[in-house]
Amino acid sequence: MSENKILEIRHLSKDFGSHKVLRDIDFLVHPGDVTSIIGASGSGKSTLLRCINLLETPTSGEILFHGENIMACRGGAPAYRAKVGMVFQSFNLFDNMSVLRNCMVGQTKVLKKSKAEAEENAMRYLKKVGMDPYINARPRQLSGGQKQRVAIARALAMDPEVLLFDEPTSALDPEMVGEVLSVMRDLASEGITMLVVTHEMAFARDVSNHVVFMCDGVIGEKGTPADVFEHPSNPRMIEFLSRFRNA
Ligand SMILES: Nc1ncnc2c1ncn2[C@@H]1O[C@H](COP(=O)(O)OP(=O)(O)OP(=O)(O)O)[C@@H](O)[C@H]1O
Ligand SMILES: [Mg+2]
Repeated sequence: MSENKILEIRHLSKDFGSHKVLRDIDFLVHPGDVTSIIGASGSGKSTLLRCINLLETPTSGEILFHGENIMACRGGAPAYRAKVGMVFQSFNLFDNMSVLRNCMVGQTKVLKKSKAEAEENAMRYLKKVGMDPYINARPRQLSGGQKQRVAIARALAMDPEVLLFDEPTSALDPEMVGEVLSVMRDLASEGITMLVVTHEMAFARDVSNHVVFMCDGVIGEKGTPADVFEHPSNPRMIEFLSRFRNA
C-alpha cells in the first residue's frame, strides 16, 4: 500500500504567533481518494489546505509527496505546487482575461506549454464542466456557479495529481450549488483525487470515501463516511452533526 500514497501528512502543526491553529495533524491520501474536511468555523480547515499547497509554511511536521518531504527538498516546491491544484470559495479568476485565457495562462506560463496545446487542453476541460459556450466571456459576465466551473476547469487544465477545494459552493446562491457539486461528483467518479473543505454534509457523506472532522486545530474524528456520520465517538462531532440535522 505504502508505494501508492500520494500524500502523507505527518504531525503537521501551524502557529500564528502564540495561536496554535493546527496541532499534530496526520492523514494519508491515496490515488482516487475523495476526502472531505468538515468542522466548525475557525477549526483550521482552510489553514490545513493552505499548508498542504504551501500558501502557508507549516511550523512543524512533514508533508510527504510520493514519499518525499516537500519541505526539505530545496527548489522542489514549485514542482510540487504545480501538482496540487486549488479551487477557492471566491473563484480567484483573472477578471481582465476571457474564460479561455483564464484556463490557458497557467499552462503557458508555468507548464511552458505551447499556445495551441494549452488552448486544446483548456477547451477539453471547459467542455467537461459545460462552460465551452462561454470561452470569450469575461468572468464578470458569468454567474457564481459558472465562475466556479471555470475555476475548476482551470485547475484541471494544469493536470494536478490532487485537487484541493476550499468551500467551493459557500459563496454561491443556493440555486447554483447543485451545478458545481454535480461537476465535483463527476470528477470523483472519474477517479480524480480531491481534498474538499465543505459544509455540504450530503456531499461529504455520499461522495467522499474519507471524512476528516477538525475541531480546534486537531482532527477530532476521521474515517469512512459510515464511521464518521453513523458511529461518531467524539462528542464535538456528535454536537456538530446534530446542528446540521436540526438545521
Ligand atoms: N494569517 C493568519 N494570521 C493569524 N491567524 C490566522 C491566519 N489565518 C487563520 N488564522 C486563524 O486560524 C484559525 C483557523 O482559521 P481557518 O481559516 O483555518 O478556519 P476554518 O476552519 O477554515 O474556518 P471557516 O469555516 O470560517 O472558513 C482562526 O482562529 C483564524 O483566525
Ligand atoms: Mg475556511
